Amino acid sequence: MSLPSKVKLVDVGPRDGLQNEKQMVPAAVKIELVQRLQDAGLKEIEVTSFVSPKWVPQMADASEVMHGIRRQSGVRYSVLTPNMKGFEAAIAAPRAEWPDEIVVFGAASEAFSQRNINCSIAESIERFRPVVEAARANGIYVRGAMSCTVGCPYEGEVAPERVGMLAGLMKGIGVQHIGVADTIGVGTPRKVRRAMEATLTHYDINDVSGHFHDTYGQALANTLASLEMGVWQFDTSVAGLGGCPYAKGATGNVASEDVVYLLDGMGIATGIDLDKLIDAGKFISDHLQRKPNSRAATAILAKRAG
Ligand code: HMG
Ligand code: MG
Repeated sequence: MSLPSKVKLVDVGPRDGLQNEKQMVPAAVKIELVQRLQDAGLKEIEVTSFVSPKWVPQMADASEVMHGIRRQSGVRYSVLTPNMKGFEAAIAAPRAEWPDEIVVFGAASEAFSQRNINCSIAESIERFRPVVEAARANGIYVRGAMSCTVGCPYEGEVAPERVGMLAGLMKGIGVQHIGVADTIGVGTPRKVRRAMEATLTHYDINDVSGHFHDTYGQALANTLASLEMGVWQFDTSVAGLGGCPYAKGATGNVASEDVVYLLDGMGIATGIDLDKLIDAGKFISDHLQRKPNSRAATAILAKRAG
């Protein structure tokens, strides 16, 4: 077994994290969070999503946030765009404010697809098709996210074949990179490995990432299991923020701080400064008036306090 020597983390906190907060977070705070994440060495940040404000009011300020961030060279900024309306809104700004990457998001379970994006899996692919075409024609990289790859809040267990089928459909419409998401954090390493294997029948290992929510405390184990398969890209969320309004009961993503601590300890390079990352997590947690949901951050903050 040879582990990757370097890992790329995409911090999805500003999007996956803040989409799920009851309180409205001002755009200025989101912009400051993005700033702190890039200062900590993150090379990709999922900033926001261009979705219906009726469905997810927390992301209604997507254009304002994209306009406000101060871009650093070498950092990529991604946004979610479920349909042409979202994509058109994402590129309505001057080119310098366009995302580097867009994300179309589907689900391996029919029920979750209906609840989250109001259409069947087959219909979602037809909605994504022109988005993928338009993005690629404009030089914007396309990532796909596959929700419910091990379990669904409405259908229960999801078979790997369903994941393979969705990955094949995504590949067929030109999605360049695919994320394997455990939306409700029910996965354990063998199940996650099977979802990864199903995905790898359609995508190269360099074009696959893991996105693990930590509801049952399995996300680090699932990250390690994926690393052992050679997966080297992961979505993580600063301070363990995250959740999906249409996946009731699901908690946040695995905390970026915990994953960086794990990788640092294993000698796997991320380019991320853990102390600065913890400061970024503390910043947003203070704003939300709670403690960072990261064991590593909690331990290091306690040590700092003496
Ligand atoms: P719909 O109602 O079927 O859309 O929603 P529609 O095309 O029928 O349009 C209805 C209305 O919505 C119209 O407005 C459209 O203009 C508007 P009206 O005429 O009634 O005033 N509309 C939009 N407005 C702004 N931006 C848009 C947009 N599209 C339509 N892009 C839609 C379909 C997909 C828009 C809706 O279901 C939606 O917004 N869903 C978002 C759900 C979401 O954001 N979920 C969380 C992100 S996914 C996630 O967290 C999982 C992930 O982390 C991986 C994992 O963990 O599993 C990625
Ligand atoms: Mg998620």
